Amino acid sequence: MNFPRAACTGFCFLFLLSFGAGATDSAINGYQPKWWKDAVVYQVYPRSFQDSNGDGVGDLKGITSKLDYIQGLGITVIWLCPHYDSPNADNGYDIRDYRKVMAEFGTMADFDELLKGVKQRHMRLVLDLVVNHSSDEHRWFVESRKSKDNPYRDYYIWRSGKGGQEPNNWVSFFSGSAWKLDPATNQYYLHLFAEKQPDLNWDNPKVRREVYDLMKFWLDKGVDGFRMDVIPFISKDPNFPDIPSQYATRPQYFYTQGPRLHEYLQEMNREVLSKYDMVTVGEAFGVTLEQTPMLVDERRHELNMIFNFDAVRLAHPGRLWTGWALPQLKAIYSAQNQQLDVHSWNTVFLSNHDNPRIVSTFGDDSADYRGASAKLLATMLLTLKGTPFIYQGDELGMTNYPFHKIEEFDDIEVKNGWKAEVLSKKVTAEDYIANLRRTSRDHSRTPMQWDATANGGFTTAAKPWLAVNPNYKEINAKQEEGDNNSIYHYFGKMIAFRQHAPALVYGGFEDLDPQNAKIFAYTRTMGDEKYLVILNFSRDAMTYSLPKGVKAGKLEMSNLGSAEEHVSEVKLRGWEARVYRVEN
Ligand code: NOJ
Ligand code: CA
Repeated sequence: MNFPRAACTGFCFLFLLSFGAGATDSAINGYQPKWWKDAVVYQVYPRSFQDSNGDGVGDLKGITSKLDYIQGLGITVIWLCPHYDSPNADNGYDIRDYRKVMAEFGTMADFDELLKGVKQRHMRLVLDLVVNHSSDEHRWFVESRKSKDNPYRDYYIWRSGKGGQEPNNWVSFFSGSAWKLDPATNQYYLHLFAEKQPDLNWDNPKVRREVYDLMKFWLDKGVDGFRMDVIPFISKDPNFPDIPSQYATRPQYFYTQGPRLHEYLQEMNREVLSKYDMVTVGEAFGVTLEQTPMLVDERRHELNMIFNFDAVRLAHPGRLWTGWALPQLKAIYSAQNQQLDVHSWNTVFLSNHDNPRIVSTFGDDSADYRGASAKLLATMLLTLKGTPFIYQGDELGMTNYPFHKIEEFDDIEVKNGWKAEVLSKKVTAEDYIANLRRTSRDHSRTPMQWDATANGGFTTAAKPWLAVNPNYKEINAKQEEGDNNSIYHYFGKMIAFRQHAPALVYGGFEDLDPQNAKIFAYTRTMGDEKYLVILNFSRDAMTYSLPKGVKAGKLEMSNLGSAEEHVSEVKLRGWEARVYRVEN
């Protein structure tokens, strides 16, 4: 039985609805109820969350010290970005030892304390599983590269060159070829990311066994699941054909087409996932919406959910910022709603550690509208259909960093791109930086802004590993916790509201006005419970007439303190958001 472990705060109503009548697995609106469908997830990037020992780097003790803050928001699940031993070529996404904690982040005892603290607060902990590749410093790779007949040779993907060139035209996401010639054996190894992130060879059953064992190691400690890094890339076409030209600018859609992906995920499910009460969410960069049910349809026994990148990358589908328009965003949500039936569950997110800040990208981070637009985005994230994922700091309305020069960045993607594009004179330095001001991953990696003291209270060190956004004196947790009208408290109220409104979790979705360029108006309906969400994605004040037959009834949530109720047209201010009960 899917027993909600959380204290009976939010979901008692849902709980009674699903189990109260003695039914065990009775469906809600056609869906199997699961704790991870009701969940609200908070993503923690450990390096930037809270430094406990003054070395300028966030750590596990720091996270443990902030669990009350996270719980105070009403969060039920924490996703922890990689905390494993790593030389940090890609901030922990290059793992040297899957069973060890990164020394900078603390010890295994610190991890156990963190897990205990999470459980004590009736939350759950999801870890990052990064097994498409390891670090080149992992002992498997250290062995593998020694000789062609080393027992670990086949743990990775080695090929001879072709006519003195790389084996094929595959490219790395961090610039250049995806193949690196290793002098010891004069063969190339594959790395879809940095040179220090060699791809593991999933066709080798020993590799798969190693992965299942390390998953069990953490699950047996009591963690509640995994977010799986670029999991659809694990199967490679053994013939290693060139990337066809139609995928040249978006190779991720090619790398997800490996022939044995579903076989491996089903095996993983049989061997590991099915044995635990856990959740899996696949990072499905390069998976189309049409392919999504192949990964998440519960009857296929692969993953529970995936991250689809159509919305989060709408304004920068490739490296370059293109801008975005509201009807495009709405069309993405409608398409997801149509494509995924009751057997496939969705996620909702607009930011993470690989994307810029939500309020700077989808809202308006000017002084006048930052608060309203951050709250509007909270309203949307928590009323769309799918499990919401909130990235650390977005609950405070943290903004993009005002980057001006290359030295201010940490990200390997940025540094490699600088060499490949700017130093080679393909792109000017000004254009390169101007684009990063909108798109860089480092915007979301600047430290959490806890208070108005030096470095936002993130660290007592003079210099944190990445600079704190200079706006920390105005935007910080302490200030927002003390202001009942803050973005932080609005997030908390929205989360609480969602947790008492089963229709917002399991109800149907309908976009009432798909072409409207400024207003996103939609309903979430389950039986008699029907909500109307109205979001003004612009600075313009306007009177919005609801579509024929729709009447806004009782006002449930409002980001600007409106009192308008029981109306067929609403007078909206810039970036205003409201949630109504629908009146018949
Ligand atoms: C996706 C992760 O989210 C990103 O941060 C990382 O650089 C790549 N995968 C490689 O692991
Ligand atoms: Ca530290």
